[in-house]
Order: sequence, then C-alpha cells, then structure tokens
Amino acid sequence: MLNWLFYRPISGKRLEEGVANPWQEYWGDTYAPELKQWLLKPVLDDLEKEGKLGNLIVDIGSGAHPITRLLPARPGRKRVCIDIAADNGESIDELRLRLDAEKIGQLSRLSFCKALVRVSVFLKIDLRKEAEIERADTMMIADTLNYVDFRKVLGGLTSYLKLRGRIIILNLPYRGNQSLFSDLGLKDNRQLYPFLEEQGFEIEFKSFPKRPRNETDESEELIVLVARKDS
Ligand SMILES: C[S@@+](CC[C@H](N)C(=O)[O-])C[C@H]1O[C@@H](n2cnc3c(N)ncnc32)[C@H](O)[C@@H]1O
Repeated sequence: MLNWLFYRPISGKRLEEGVANPWQEYWGDTYAPELKQWLLKPVLDDLEKEGKLGNLIVDIGSGAHPITRLLPARPGRKRVCIDIAADNGESIDELRLRLDAEKIGQLSRLSFCKALVRVSVFLKIDLRKEAEIERADTMMIADTLNYVDFRKVLGGLTSYLKLRGRIIILNLPYRGNQSLFSDLGLKDNRQLYPFLEEQGFEIEFKSFPKRPRNETDESEELIVLVARKDS
C-alpha cells in the first residue's frame, strides 16, 4: 500500500465542522515528490526530447508544489497551476490560480470568468481582440482524480487543450485522504480508457510502475498515462 506516502494523519473532523474549503488546511503539503519525480521525470524528458510538450502547460489540482515544476524552464514556457486552495501567486513563468476544477468551462460562473481574465493577463492576451482563447499544449493532473467528478473535470478541460495536445495523468485509485473523496471520483483506472476515447483522445502510453510482479489487474494500481487529443 502506498497510502502512507501521500498523507499526514487526519482527524476526520473537518467535514463535520463545515469548513468551506477543506483543502485549505492542506495547502503547502507535499505528496511524495521524490516518488513523483522518479515516475514522471523520464516520461516528461522523453516527451520534451521529441518536442511534444509545448510551451503552455496546465497543472490541475497542482498543490503548492506543482509537478509541472519538473519540466525544464525554457523561453516562452508558461505554466498555469489550478487548485481549489491555491494562493493566487504568480511569477514570470507560473500562475497559481484558485479555482474549482469542476467549474472549468462554465462561462456562467463568475469564478471561471475571473480565472480566464487572470490567465489572459498572465499570457498577455487581449480578450477583447483575440477571437480564439489560447489553448494549452499539455495538461497534467496528478493525484487529484479521486477528489473530483473526474468526467466533469476531464470533459471540461478538453476544449482548452490544443488538437494534438496531451494530457498526462498520474493516479492511485482509492488511496489518499478518503474523507475528501468525491462520489464521482475515479474508482477504477479502466473507467479512464473509454472516457478518454469518447473525448477524442488516443492513449499513447500507460504504465503501472508500482504493480506487483505477476499482477495483471490494472484497476486500482498507480497509473501513469499519456493521451493525445486527436479530435
Ligand atoms: C493530493 S493533492 C495533489 C497535489 C499535486 N498534484 C501533487 O501531485 O503533489 C490534491 C490536490 O487537489 C486539489 N483539489 C481538490 N479538489 C479540487 C478541485 N475541485 N479543484 C481544484 N483542485 C482541487 C487539492 O487542493 C490538492 O492540492
């Protein structure tokens, strides 16, 4: 079991106490960064060598230590890190945006419209002049799909990803802070495959780096997946 790698002990009281955003308490925590570096760096390095990552990268459920910082900085590369508890901080190449990922694409939501305006300013786009919004080259989502309606989040993201852009997922179903799991979170890795295909993605790569030898079941193993948007 990998659970101990990811979470400090919790009291389980927060939800009962009615805290508006229970993730706020966890902002600043880390979730096995060495393990993630070990798992993701080779995948990212290969994609980078092949020129497949691009410059505009979005990290969803980024936490305060976004995995997208594993990417080498390069001129023009910018990262937009979205998190429900984000501090709204900003540097030259990283925007941290407080936003509920389930609201992505909902233009009737003030929080989403405000987020779009902040992204435009960060990317130096004039929303009044540009007919098309800038779309991301790559989106990454690590250790977050347990906590959100994964179909709503991934479905909402796709229209902001370029054609031939990629989504990179790292997930460990059922492990983590169970008191914060969504009923509509990803329960089984195999739910991802048909859903991504329906959304026009082709799965280019998937691996189960912590799967025990001789185990063939993919459902609840830690998965690293890369999918390309083909339509
Ligand atoms: C387990 S942490 C993973 C953080 C980081 N991706 C990593 O791998 O280290 C899950 C993150 O998802 C964020 N999160 C949970 N629900 C969210 C939502 N609805 N929208 C955006 N972020 C969310 C939390 O605030 C938290 O930072």
